[in-house]
Amino acid sequence: MHDNRGMRWLMRLLVMVGLVLLPQFAFAAAADGAKEQVQRQATQPGNNAPVWRDVRGGDNAYQTTQVRGIETNVLVQSGGETWRQVRNGPITVYGGWLLVVVTLLIGLYYGVKGQIKLHEKPTGRLVQRFSDWDRIMHWSTAISFMILAITGMITLFGKYVLLPVFGYTLFSWLAMLSKNLHNFVGPLFAVCTVLIFVTFVKDNLPRAHDWLWVRKAGGFLSGEHVPSGRFNAGEKAWFWLGVTALGIISSITGFILDFSNFGQGRLLMQQANVIHAISSILFISMALAHIYIGTIGTEGAYASMRTGSIDETWAKEHHEYWYNEEKARQGRAPGGAPSTAAASAMKEGWKL
Ligand code: HEM
Repeated sequence: MHDNRGMRWLMRLLVMVGLVLLPQFAFAAAADGAKEQVQRQATQPGNNAPVWRDVRGGDNAYQTTQVRGIETNVLVQSGGETWRQVRNGPITVYGGWLLVVVTLLIGLYYGVKGQIKLHEKPTGRLVQRFSDWDRIMHWSTAISFMILAITGMITLFGKYVLLPVFGYTLFSWLAMLSKNLHNFVGPLFAVCTVLIFVTFVKDNLPRAHDWLWVRKAGGFLSGEHVPSGRFNAGEKAWFWLGVTALGIISSITGFILDFSNFGQGRLLMQQANVIHAISSILFISMALAHIYIGTIGTEGAYASMRTGSIDETWAKEHHEYWYNEEKARQGRAPGGAPSTAAASAMKEGWKL
């Protein structure tokens, strides 16, 4: 009993001593830190390394907040600076140059080779190449893609290319408009990607004769006629590598960035942003080639995607196996009366 009382007094004494001394130690440590910081400021003005080390310490005891959410207690995330340098450095510089070089190469090719013309005269008989559904899907994907490509490029390169020309007021309006359009059209494009895949996959499956087309580079350099199915190996490469692979990568990373309320942290969003930018730049580069071949590069191609029908001579000269298959399927030479749209297209001379 007597011993117990003695122990209790001893414990009380220790607690009191602790309460008095501990803040002294903490104060001394803080004072040391402050002194160190004062000395640092004298020799290296502006160097607040210890403060920033604490701030960047992640979820340590110093950083608490009433705001509940993913990483709300992280004041400054170091990875953010790395991401900023990668995005504003190599991605913007090399990505921008890639687009310039691809555009110049296409221009050079057009300057040297010109448009691929038909060798024989058009017969006036049309063969259906694309159904209404094919064309609805194509143009929905193409238009949403063009909006994303233009608004995406304004977001990435606008600060360097447009801001000096337009000034702050106009450019900030354009940048805000681009951002909102991009955010809303993105999911629409993702849906189109799935639908265009289903629409065209059957005729883009690899066939043995595709190798001939690859070996001869489609005759693009030699001008030689290389027979192909409904789509040639070049179109299949665009379908699988561009439309499908890059379409899926851009869409998934776009969703991660667009809907940031599903628990993703900053690191994942930074990674998604880098992958999104790289895949989109590659996608736009491939699309430039596709758009060139589908418009001024090949006589008649654009009219076929606009109206759905094409002259038999074009079908034979560009997709001979497909033309023959159509002929066999119909038990006669394919063709017939042109659709109203195709007839008016021919009258208006959509040659491209
Ligand atoms: C203004 C832009 C575009 C133009 C002028 C254009 C033009 C064309 C033309 C003329 C064809 C028919 C080629 C043929 O008859 O063999 C075609 C096919 C096709 N285009 Fe486009 N296109 C554009 C943008 C796009 C975009 C952005 C995508 C997808 C992201 C796309 C995906 C396709 C697909 C999947 C085909 C079917 C051939 C294949 O599977 O490779 N196009 N396009």
